Amino acid sequence: MSYPLRKRILVTGGAGFLGSHLCERLLTDGHDVLCIDNFFTGTKDNIAHLLDNPYFELLRHDVTFPLYVEVDEIYNLACPASPIHYQVDPVQTTKTSVHGAINMLGLAKRLKAKIFQASTSEVYGDPAIHPQPEHYWGNVNPIGPRSCYDEGKRCAETLFFDYRRQHGLRVKVARIFNTYGPRMHPNDGRVVSNFIVQALRGEPITLYGDGTQTRSFCYVDDLIEGFVRLMDSPDSFTGPVNMGNPGEFTMIELAEIVRDLTGSSSPLVYKTLPTDDPKHRQPDIRTARSAFGWEPTVPLQVGLKPTIEYFEQLLRQRL
Ligand SMILES: NC(=O)c1ccc[n+]([C@@H]2O[C@H](COP(=O)([O-])OP(=O)(O)OC[C@H]3O[C@@H](n4cnc5c(N)ncnc54)[C@H](O)[C@@H]3O)[C@@H](O)[C@H]2O)c1
Repeated sequence: MSYPLRKRILVTGGAGFLGSHLCERLLTDGHDVLCIDNFFTGTKDNIAHLLDNPYFELLRHDVTFPLYVEVDEIYNLACPASPIHYQVDPVQTTKTSVHGAINMLGLAKRLKAKIFQASTSEVYGDPAIHPQPEHYWGNVNPIGPRSCYDEGKRCAETLFFDYRRQHGLRVKVARIFNTYGPRMHPNDGRVVSNFIVQALRGEPITLYGDGTQTRSFCYVDDLIEGFVRLMDSPDSFTGPVNMGNPGEFTMIELAEIVRDLTGSSSPLVYKTLPTDDPKHRQPDIRTARSAFGWEPTVPLQVGLKPTIEYFEQLLRQRL
């Protein structure tokens, strides 16, 4: 089969959780994919199945250094995403977001390429309003242990919009909310991976506070569909646009669903709520719905099945 519209697409952070799914999707759509990664949190296992594809290329590269390649589109995902990972080397985290954005925007400017930024709901910080629409400017601590990530991503957004205003670049900025699926990290301290790993090991499932706080979870395939639609939206649409699943679940509900699907009899144990734990976190996705007709379609109970299978396999390999 020939693809007359085959594009050359660069994915930074392509060996990570979201990046590997994006590479897969772009190859399926018939594109030529260049994946770059420094393997800080990503692994070759995530993309090993793509290495035989002649339209897939892997390059070990750190985005804090300039890159000279020829592509038509850039998806900039490189950045550790969970507090456990991004706090290991906070200075490098800020460099990855800021220098990484400058390097990729410079590349896009030279090539006149369209460029996508994986931003985050964390740009809203500890928000004073719920749910957060894109025009909310956020409430972020500039000097705390999470600031390297939150402020790094905010500065990257600033750079994207300055490159648009100053150089007319075609930019797309997605603010991603909690996403789960196969290939997420088993030890990144996120609630979905924590609960699944605890349930599969038959260990107690840890809830904080009374477990009635709610969270929303987007399945990775839904999110990647959103990325592609955003990239294909008219040049006049830049975002920032929230992307996530607005369905809300209490932590007790999530624990019970995980227990059910894994067939585990792990007990639920309750620990003290951390001081900065928000009561609710839910995306407002009206912009994505109206701008490019996107909304998640995979229910939590459905998306958790392949995620649990992935962790089962991973734990078996590590035994
Ligand atoms: N997963 C989520 O729920 C979520 C939510 C909000 C935002 N995001 C954003 O989406 C992007 C991807 O997140 P993920 O969940 O796939 O995380 P991940 O850690 O699995 O992927 C990030 C990838 O970037 C690579 N990387 C890190 N620093 C790099 C550097 N300096 N140069 C080159 N590569 C580098 C890592 O090795 C990894 O492969 C990140 O930018 C993250 O901030 C993710």
